[in-house]
Amino acid sequence: MTAEPQAAFESYRDEALAAIASAGSEAELESVRIEFLGKKQGRLKDLQTLLGKAEPAEKPLLGKQFNEVRTDVEGALEARRGELVRPIAAVAAVDVTLPGTRPVIGRRHPLSKTMDEFKDIVGRFGFSVATGPELEDDHHNFVALNIPPVHPARDPLDNFYLAVAGKSGEKVLMRSQTSTVQIRVMEQSQPPVRIVSLGRCYRPDTIDSTHHCMFHQMEGLMIDTDVTMADLKTVLKLFATAFLGDDVSIRFRPSFFPFTEPSVEVDVLWRDRWLELGGAGMVDPNVLRQVGYDPEQVSGFAFGLGIERFCMMRYQITDIRRFFENDVRFLSQF
Ligand code: PHE
Repeated sequence: MTAEPQAAFESYRDEALAAIASAGSEAELESVRIEFLGKKQGRLKDLQTLLGKAEPAEKPLLGKQFNEVRTDVEGALEARRGELVRPIAAVAAVDVTLPGTRPVIGRRHPLSKTMDEFKDIVGRFGFSVATGPELEDDHHNFVALNIPPVHPARDPLDNFYLAVAGKSGEKVLMRSQTSTVQIRVMEQSQPPVRIVSLGRCYRPDTIDSTHHCMFHQMEGLMIDTDVTMADLKTVLKLFATAFLGDDVSIRFRPSFFPFTEPSVEVDVLWRDRWLELGGAGMVDPNVLRQVGYDPEQVSGFAFGLGIERFCMMRYQITDIRRFFENDVRFLSQF
């Protein structure tokens, strides 16, 4: 009998057992299996060829040895697989708060990230987050904000009315500004008030690269015994600086909103350009009276900032429509 096939069987077995023992994962074990036990190619196939070439008289014994070696290797492989497949209890004990080894599938929308960051920043100034409905009645969208039924300020805001009326027969529309939440918060709480509200608004605007019929605003409202426009300017400047990361300047331009007096447009000087951020002003005494506050006792400011605009500045996005097209080639860049 030639020693050659026997020696080959022995070293095959030794190497296979060592490789199996050192496989650290199911995937590693699988490549060991393919290397040593693979049907189409691999080391076992080589041994079979060797066996085929042996003298006919030696074949029965060599065949027996071949089968023993293969059984040993297969057994060791199965045993190791059992060790590597973790029992369910061990999987459940995994700490999911540890950083992952693979990137998470999908990512947050740039607007969601911007809104989270906004909440973080104003949270540090002591503002809490309030929410309000996107479907509003005429009272909260207009009347309580000092916009009576035939007021011309309704024109740019009158938008999408529902065909069905509200519970008490009132007209219902998609809110055209987050200022509605100012009213809802004041109706339900007493001063001092310090809130922001972030969410969608709807307007009959013609869609182009800087306008959309749906967009997001962050409303701010602060009411206390002696709030002034200096507080408003300070909060907005600190906010813009915190978000844009530079020491920015803030500019107020006279404006008009039915629910603030005086009213201003807020611009920010960023990288040598003045950019419009939104509207603001001191809450109109009529609005305060309307919710049962005494304008002789309390005063406050309100602001409404366009969220898309900030996000476009920050990420150098040039077309607002990209936000709402759900094109992953665009979204995956952020
Ligand atoms: N609601 C106003 C708008 O959408 C912005 C604003 C908010 C102005 C609060 C003054 C105070 O244009």
